[in-house]
Amino acid sequence: MKTTFIRDILKKSKAGKTVEVCGWVYRKREMKDKIFLVIRDSTDIMQVIVTDKSDAWKSAQKVTIESSVIISGTLKQDFRAPTGYELKAEKLEIVDLAERFPISKDLSTEFLMDVRHLALRGIKQAAIIKLRSQMFMAFHEYFRKNKFIEAEAPSFMSQGSEGGSEVFQVKYFGKKAFLTQSWQFYAENMIHAFENVYALAPSFRAEKSSTNRHLTEYWHLEVESAWANLNDIINLTEGCISAVIDKLLSENSRELEIVGVDKKWLNSLKPPYKKITYSKAVKELQKKGFKIKEGQDFGAPHEKELAKNGPIFVTHYPMSILKFYHGEDPKNPGYGTNFNLLFPEVGETVDGSQREPELEKIKQRLKKAKINLGKSDWYLDSRRYGSVPHAGFGLGTERLLQALLKLDHIRDILPFPRFMNRIRP
Ligand code: 4AD
Ligand code: MG
Repeated sequence: MKTTFIRDILKKSKAGKTVEVCGWVYRKREMKDKIFLVIRDSTDIMQVIVTDKSDAWKSAQKVTIESSVIISGTLKQDFRAPTGYELKAEKLEIVDLAERFPISKDLSTEFLMDVRHLALRGIKQAAIIKLRSQMFMAFHEYFRKNKFIEAEAPSFMSQGSEGGSEVFQVKYFGKKAFLTQSWQFYAENMIHAFENVYALAPSFRAEKSSTNRHLTEYWHLEVESAWANLNDIINLTEGCISAVIDKLLSENSRELEIVGVDKKWLNSLKPPYKKITYSKAVKELQKKGFKIKEGQDFGAPHEKELAKNGPIFVTHYPMSILKFYHGEDPKNPGYGTNFNLLFPEVGETVDGSQREPELEKIKQRLKKAKINLGKSDWYLDSRRYGSVPHAGFGLGTERLLQALLKLDHIRDILPFPRFMNRIRP
């Protein structure tokens, strides 16, 4: 197994030292008597110079982009080199001579998506995936530190949970099954065993929206907490986002630099966030000329406007546009104990609420909305055997990272994204 990585060499080594680099040829520039290579591994890049007098010359002439190589030589500090050092090659072993690599500059997004398995090697794309990995680490650390139990739910369901037409149907041994849209039904039952639970897992949405913020398979961070109210769940939302930002800032300077994210910008996205009620938000939008009426749900342009100056919690939506499980505000009947957290450009990123704990109220709402829970009726047991006040949220992890890194499109956040017109590779 490889134990020395380019990042370690750049950090620890001194000029004049002999080192060995294993990696892939990222760039190649040939001159009459010297060849410049840029070698890439999972951690960083290193400039290599091969002169016509060295033993490495013949291999360097032959080597192609994305060939795997082992190069040894001496390090020299060079401020013109992209990472501050240059390796003067003495030996160059070609482990595998790559065929002509299909990716070069100025290719269409469609083509890059077709060769996504190769495009992931690009250092900017790879840095985004590393930041994603770090975000996941921060979530796990945060919830473990706060004594949450990680407990997942299945992806195959006998009935869609969130309802609507956005559910994928699959065959399950001659029967119908559906891919999960949310872990929430399971979680609202699990809190009686574990009190505080979370899961980080894929959710599936058959939404026919090809926008820059919709995936058909996305990674959903879901949290449910017994004995918690709206404020508690808002605090947890802020806490875990704060943990992510802190982690990226303290451990991923280089990746942020590669992606082009300004640390000041990332710092400016740290909680606490502004809060506004739904009704106030509607009035503000009306003042700005939007044709929205009290009782209507927000669309993407409304969310964009509301989050124009930074992340914002919109709370207490009308019950008429909420789901049957949302709690109702006793101080303001007709409005829910819920929130959406909106981020600049991306819009809705987290959706959470204090839930309705009473069985009878939920039954009435289901009846009124003509919803038949069918095979999901076991959900109601959460209100039958020791129901407690509780609250939870679902956070779209790709949307969060898209907002933090200020990326145009959500597809870049996943190694192999799935959206309406993309199911390969
Ligand atoms: O708003 P949603 O549908 O809420 C729920 O599923 C609740 N049951 C969550 C809960 O309380 N446990 O989805 C939650 C979040 C959204 O706010 C959004 O960030 C993300 O999931 N999301 C998507 N992300 C990418 N592509 C899609 N098609 C998404 N749909 C929702
Ligand atoms: Mg929502």
